[in-house]
Amino acid sequence: MATILLLHGPNLNLLGTREPQVYGSTTLTNINKMVIERGKELGVEVQPFQSNSEGALIDKLHEARTWANGVIFNPGAYTHTSIALRDAITATGLLVVEVHLSNIHAREEFRHKSMLAPVCLGQICGFGWRSYLLGLDALVGSMV
Ligand code: DQA
Repeated sequence: MATILLLHGPNLNLLGTREPQVYGSTTLTNINKMVIERGKELGVEVQPFQSNSEGALIDKLHEARTWANGVIFNPGAYTHTSIALRDAITATGLLVVEVHLSNIHAREEFRHKSMLAPVCLGQICGFGWRSYLLGLDALVGSMV
């Protein structure tokens, strides 16, 4: 069975209470549950991991190259700053779909640029928790 890493970056552990007008009121635990359930329908196993630390996210990508068939990744604010995460995606050769709850292109200008999107399969943003389910569908569809 294919295995997907569901990777969440900084501050996403606070979903539910963090700026609900921007990110919605669904918790990270619930998002993980929904993606795992959708994964079962699609015949893939989903393994979630969240960290507030850039290094831990890089380490997880390195580790995942031995077992993951693809990655759904919300890098949080590291989206806009992290050349190190971009290099980790390139170095591991993992298939990554970048997802965001909010429409980063409709927000502050500093959020319009993603350092990671050019080395990802694609980017899905603006659909709240549904971005993750759309991302999983897109990733699994690209794997077959
Ligand atoms: C986010 C968008 C980022 O700009 C922000 O820093 C986040 C969340 C999103 O899911 O909409 O932490 O990745």
